[in-house]
Amino acid sequence: MTPDLMKKIKPSVKAARLSDIYQFSEKIADIPGLINLTLGEPDFPTPRHVKDAAIAAINADQSHYTATRGLLETRTAAAQFLRNKYQLDYDPTTQVVITNGVTEAMYVALETFVNPQDEILMPTPAFPVYDSLLELNEARLVEINTANDQFQLTPARLQTELAAHPKAKAIILNFPANPTGVSYCRKQVQELAAVLAKTDLLVISDEIYSELTYDQTHTSIAEFIPAQTLLFNGLSKSHAMTGWRIGVVAGPADIMTEIAKVHELISTSVMTAAQIAAAAAFRDGEDDAAQMRVEYERRRDYLHMALNDLGFANQLPQGAFYLFAKIPQQFNQNSYEFCLEVARKARVGLIPGSSFGAGGEGYVRISYATSQAKLEEAVARLKAYVNG
Ligand SMILES: Cc1ncc(COP(=O)(O)O)c(C=O)c1O
Repeated sequence: MTPDLMKKIKPSVKAARLSDIYQFSEKIADIPGLINLTLGEPDFPTPRHVKDAAIAAINADQSHYTATRGLLETRTAAAQFLRNKYQLDYDPTTQVVITNGVTEAMYVALETFVNPQDEILMPTPAFPVYDSLLELNEARLVEINTANDQFQLTPARLQTELAAHPKAKAIILNFPANPTGVSYCRKQVQELAAVLAKTDLLVISDEIYSELTYDQTHTSIAEFIPAQTLLFNGLSKSHAMTGWRIGVVAGPADIMTEIAKVHELISTSVMTAAQIAAAAAFRDGEDDAAQMRVEYERRRDYLHMALNDLGFANQLPQGAFYLFAKIPQQFNQNSYEFCLEVARKARVGLIPGSSFGAGGEGYVRISYATSQAKLEEAVARLKAYVNG
């Protein structure tokens, strides 16, 4: 008898949905000549000095487990980076853990804090992995649809949601945001922090795009409410290191002891050579993002104007490398069907806004982490499609 192992799978795992982003990208990947603007993958190489540090580490046989929290050298460099850039004060020995990307940090944090039925607040549209992880933990996501507030969470709205959900355990924030590119100025961050400071909420703040902030400097919410914040950052976006899998989670020391426990059970430690490369990135590459930022900003300005001209209304992103645009009125407002048609007929790959939760339908996400030449060709194709 062959046992039906599928029946033994945990219902929470069966129920958890993977992000539509990858599914949709794969679905359209085979379309010949497609210009793919779907993925949040920097199109720059990892900086030379970072690669050299990893190569030297491998050649020096740095091939053993490290401390679970990460090499002290890496944690120290990460803490120094956060201090220099964002005025954050974390002790590398007790308050920082190096993870396999922010993705692992997210998993560890939710595993550490979230029980079935817990209510977790999150402004949407949002990075869909959070929703999937909450499903896996059988928690209840409370979506705060920000579509009518220019995709920003306002202090007043936050207060309303807190009053409506007095038992909420945590709020997940992400700024600069995927998929909208929205961020907050210092005053706005301070005002949100002031509201949250009056609650006992855990604040999970995913600031992975902090270095890709345009027109203003990034302010971390951890600067104002460190005692209730778990801060996520990493090297995937700032240093074009998605494949190296380096994330940083920082927070109060007692909380980090529990986080480190779960991290140890999941992965023991992050690959040693990657950690040594990460130390080089944080320590010697503090401004590695600067050149990339200039290029992203140029593309952002181009795409913002070009798409508005075509009728894809969109606001100027303040960070990250995505633009969230309204599907022109004359087209099917079902974003999945619209993106499928655009992929097939215009040969341009966009992500349906519906992938990002409440407030996303009727929009598309466009990644400008691709060359200017490809963006111009994509705009030309969209123009022909819109006018055709
Ligand atoms: C908001 C956000 N958080 C986290 C991640 C994942 O980052 P990492 O590569 O560090 O796992 C991404 C990647 O797209 C993201 O957009």
